[in-house]
Amino acid sequence: MPGVVYLNGEFLPREKATLSVDDRGFIFGDGIYEVTRVVNGRLFEAHRHMRRLEYGLRGIGIDARMSADEIIDIHYRLIQENGLTSGEGTVYLQITRGAAPRTHYFPPAGTRPTVFLSASPFTPNLTQRDTGATAVTYPDIRWSRCDLKTVNLLGAVLAKQHAVAGGSLEAVFIRDGVITEGSHTNVFGVIDGEVRTYPRSNYILSGITRDVVLELAVEEGVNVRETPILQQEIGRLDELFVTGTTSDVTPIVQLDGRAIGSGKPGPITRQLSAALQRRLYAATPSTGAALASAR
Ligand code: PDD
Repeated sequence: MPGVVYLNGEFLPREKATLSVDDRGFIFGDGIYEVTRVVNGRLFEAHRHMRRLEYGLRGIGIDARMSADEIIDIHYRLIQENGLTSGEGTVYLQITRGAAPRTHYFPPAGTRPTVFLSASPFTPNLTQRDTGATAVTYPDIRWSRCDLKTVNLLGAVLAKQHAVAGGSLEAVFIRDGVITEGSHTNVFGVIDGEVRTYPRSNYILSGITRDVVLELAVEEGVNVRETPILQQEIGRLDELFVTGTTSDVTPIVQLDGRAIGSGKPGPITRQLSAALQRRLYAATPSTGAALASAR
C-alpha cells in the first residue's frame, strides 16, 4: 500500500515507517484508534472524533502530548500528501502507550506514546447502501468497556469473520438478550414506526455516525428512542440498519437468514440514509453532492 504516513513526528513513505517490537500496541493492544471520513479534502465531524479520542485516551490513561488541533493538522497534511483533496478517503489514527519492556502495569512515566496516522482513498459501497445487505447475530463476547475505541478488536474480528465466512456483511452483537451494536457499526431498528438503538453506555461505542443520525432523525421528524431492541423483538422489526464511518446508513434486509420487514430497505432507513448523505456531501459540490441530489 503506497502513500505517506505520519509516525512519531515524521511524515514518511509507508514502507519506511517501522515500529518497535516492544510497542505496547503490538504486545497488549494497549492503545486507542480513530477512523475519520474524508470527503473532497474535508474531514467529516473532525471535532467529534477528537473528543472521542480524548475520552478514550483519558479512559486508559495515555497522554498523547498533542492538542486536538495539532492532530487535526496532521490529518490535513496527510490528506494533501496522499492526494485526497478530491473524492473520498479515510484517515486512520492510532495512539499506543509506546514501547517499553513487557510489564502488565504501565511503563515508566516519560515513555513516549506512539502516534501513527495514515490516509487512504475510500469508495463507499453504493450498491449496498441502496439495496441493503445481510447480517447475522453473534454473542457479544467483548469486554464491558466498548465505549473505549481500543485497538483490542479480537471480539469484533471473530464476529466479523463469522459474518463474512457465511456471506454476510455484518455481525450484530447480542448481550443479555438485547442487540448492542455491530462488529464495527451501530445498529438501529424500526418497530411500529419508532426508531430504536441501544443507549449510549459502556456496552457500545458511541459512534459519530450514530450521533449524527440521531440528530438527523430529530430534524427529519422521525420518532426515535435510545432503548435496546430485545432479541425476542427481532421478528417484529420492520426495518434494520447499521451506521458507521465506512458504512454510512446501510440497510440490513435479512438477519440470520430471515427477511426484515419487506426484505427491502424501508422508508425510514432510506430517509435517514438520504439525510446523512446530504450532511456528508454538504459544501463539497462534486461527486458526492451529485449522488445525494440524485436520490
Ligand atoms: N468502527 N461500533 C463499533 C464497535 C465500531 O468499531 C464503530 C466504528 C462504530 C461506528 O462508529 P463511527 O460512526 O464513529 O465510525 C460502532 C470503525 C469505523 C472501524 O473500526 O474501522
